[in-house]
Formats: sequence, C-alpha cells, structure tokens
Amino acid sequence: NKLVVLDVDCGQDDAQAIMLALTRPNVQVLGITCVSGNVGVHQVCRNVLRILKVFGRLDVPVYRGADVPILGTHMDCSHWHGQDGLGDVPDPDPPSLELVQSEHAVTALLRLSKEHPGEISLVAMAPLTNLALAVRMDPEFPARLRELVIMGGNINARGRVTPTAEFNFAYDSEAAHMVLSGYPCPVSDIPYEVCRFSPDCGIPWDEWDKIMAIPTERGKFHSAILAASTAREKAAKTHTPLYHTCDPYALMVAARPDIVMETEDVYATVELRGEVTRGQMVCDYRGLWKKEPNLRVVKKLDMKAAIQMFWDALQ
Ligand code: BDR
Ligand code: CA
Repeated sequence: NKLVVLDVDCGQDDAQAIMLALTRPNVQVLGITCVSGNVGVHQVCRNVLRILKVFGRLDVPVYRGADVPILGTHMDCSHWHGQDGLGDVPDPDPPSLELVQSEHAVTALLRLSKEHPGEISLVAMAPLTNLALAVRMDPEFPARLRELVIMGGNINARGRVTPTAEFNFAYDSEAAHMVLSGYPCPVSDIPYEVCRFSPDCGIPWDEWDKIMAIPTERGKFHSAILAASTAREKAAKTHTPLYHTCDPYALMVAARPDIVMETEDVYATVELRGEVTRGQMVCDYRGLWKKEPNLRVVKKLDMKAAIQMFWDALQ
C-alpha cells in the first residue's frame, strides 16, 4: 500500500483530489492536514469532513493547521470556489467540527513521519504554510518522507492571482520559498501552466460531461460542487477544448507514478521581493546558478489513465 498524507485548503479541486485518493485501491490516506487558502482553515476542515462523510470515510483523521500565512494576510478565493469553497451547495446535515483531531496538523505531520519513516508521500495542494512550519520545527522531517508532491507555482511566469504568481505560492510565498529550499527528499511539482493550459493535461469536454453525469451519490455530489465552475469555464473567453483542473494531478503523480509521461529536473526558487513578481516561481533552466535541481517538474500525464481515475472514484 502507498501511504499518503494530503495537505489541503479544500476548494473544489482539492475535493476532487481527496475523492480520488479515498477510492484508490493501493492508497492508504493516513490523514488530511488542513490549512487556510481558498477558504479559512475552519471551513477547510468542514469541507474535508463533508467529503469524508459522502464517501463513508469519516475514519480518516482530519487535522487543523495554520490559519494565516507565515507573513501577510488571508487572500480570498471565493470568486472561484464559492463562499464555502465547495461551490455553495447547501449541506443539510453538516458533520460536526468536533470530529477534527485535537492534535495540530504540523505536529501530526511530524509524528506520522516518525511512525512511517521513508514511507509517506506527502501531497501538498495548498499554500505551503504547514510544510514550512514542519521543517522549522524539525529539520529532519523532510528526510523522513518518501516524497513530496506539490501542486503550485509556475514554470513560465504565467500567473493567476497576480500576473506572475500562482495562488498557492502567492498566498504564502515565504512558505513556498522555505519548502523549495528545505526539502531534500524527492520533490515533484505539477505547476499551474501544465494544469491549466497544457494540451497534454486536460479532459475533452465531452468526456468531462460524461463524468459530470455519473449518477451515483458520489458522482452527484462531485458534479453539484463542480457545476458552477464548470459552467463558468465553458462560457469563458479563454474556453479551450479541454476541461482543466489542478490538485487532482498532484494526487495522481503520487498514487500512480506510471501516469507521468514527461518531466524536467530544475532548480527553482520563489521571488519574495520583486516589485511586481512576488510569489513567482523562478526556474534556473540554464543552470546559471550552478545549483543541483531541487524539483522534478511534471509536464505531461497519461490523460487516458487520469480520466479513468475519475471514473473509478465516482462510479
Ligand atoms: C491552486 O489554487 C487553489 O485555488 C486550487 O485549489 C489549487 O490548489 C491552483 O492555482
Ligand atoms: Ca488547493
């Protein structure tokens, strides 16, 4: 079994990744650590519990982590994910927040890595605040991981919340910098441009429509929370022949390494002081800084297998 821990700021695509993880036969989710990002950390915990309930998996421990970035303040993302982070679909019977573990997410990460040294794939799909705090509390923590897979940052300065910065790295740029410079374990990154704009990483709309029509309870829940953003995407001026999402691909890289078709090793860091470029991931493609690569950038996935993973999760 592959042991994973998911670090999330549970918006819609984090939700998709959680669904995929819970339903993979070879994957054991040891815990879900929550952090502020798309919505505040309490709402993130609520959303995670809601998904676990729909999937009959309230046995998976949920941990509350950092509620603000290392520096700076909360950056709202409700225009995309909804006020509640999950498309504002009413929940008639929300699970109690008392189900959240009393242990802090960062302490849980350190403990789990000691209980399973060299075995955990940590999948980070949110601002990296918890991971930055973890390495400050225990510098040996990253070395006890099997690997870290990040969804975040950008490889060609194409931004989302600023012209040059992707959301997770913009929300907590210091944390992203600390993680890129402080995790000596194997680190893979699925960057923003690959998730959102690559012709090699997207689902044809007709295939996506079929996934959105899966009539199971899980399928209906998934399509309800994704309905508004899917409609918006289809109508947008930037409309492409493909449905694009982000966080599920990080989970796929960890859960099914054979899905990865193309990668590039590079040394990358994060701009912290730029007047207009704060939060941008900067890749030294030419090796000008003479630093060893710290990141395996994932550039292409086997989309047939990726689509099948959605079916496996929702059917
Ligand atoms: C990332 O930002 C968040 O809004 C998504 O959940 C994803 O993790 C994409 O830029
Ligand atoms: Ca996310």
